[in-house]
Amino acid sequence: MSRRILIAGNWKMNKTSAEGAALVKEIVAQMPAGSLPEILVCPPYLTIPAVVEAAKGSPICVGAENVHWAANGAFTGEVSTDMLKDAGVTHVIIGHSERRQYFGETDETVNKRTAAAVAAGLVAVVCVGETLEEREGNKTADVIDRQVRKAFEGISAADMAKIVIAYEPVWAIGTGKTATDDQAQEVHAQIRALLADLYGADVAEATRILYGGSMKPANAAGLLAQKDIDGGLIGGAALKAPDFIALIKAGMQA
Ligand code: PGA
Repeated sequence: MSRRILIAGNWKMNKTSAEGAALVKEIVAQMPAGSLPEILVCPPYLTIPAVVEAAKGSPICVGAENVHWAANGAFTGEVSTDMLKDAGVTHVIIGHSERRQYFGETDETVNKRTAAAVAAGLVAVVCVGETLEEREGNKTADVIDRQVRKAFEGISAADMAKIVIAYEPVWAIGTGKTATDDQAQEVHAQIRALLADLYGADVAEATRILYGGSMKPANAAGLLAQKDIDGGLIGGAALKAPDFIALIKAGMQA
């Protein structure tokens, strides 16, 4: 498989600057030798400089957990692509289900943030996923179809080189309930087929689709062995160095 595995940590609202820097240093100290996957950590905005500093000279990239679409202006509480790049950020998570659930994120704002991120040269990790109610109502395929189509409206095939998709079933996030390997693979295959439809076979083949939702050392190998699963977006297990290292190792074996 030519797609490089991406092991990405989503720290959410956890860790101070000192704690985040210490975690990165611990991960770096335990980094396995050999051909590594791409490794990303996404800390809260305020701690990004400390984490970037700690990651310097290591294979760890630093991302943000969100970004606004405007270049600057009267948007209290928001952060721009320039500010992220200035701080050393290379990736940004967009449309996480917690943003959609608790902070009014919509398919439309996900699309705007995604367009701004890729225009600025950031890699956008765009999240999609169904709720438990939607899964039980047999609406998973429709929800994923709508979220993917809307997220990438106006995004060109060339821009897709800067896009990573994360499939995160909402019912699996932070709940300890992981999608089975087959459940995850089924949705990943659907997303890849949709990308082929929208952008052609080459883009579909090249685009990485991560799984997220209670991924941990115990279930990572099975998920990463699936043909259309190209890495993980990891919450809880990204906050402890031994777990994150185990996930990096699972990525090396996938
Ligand atoms: P979790 O979070 O691994 O703690 O389930 C994943 C995510 O929300 O990105």
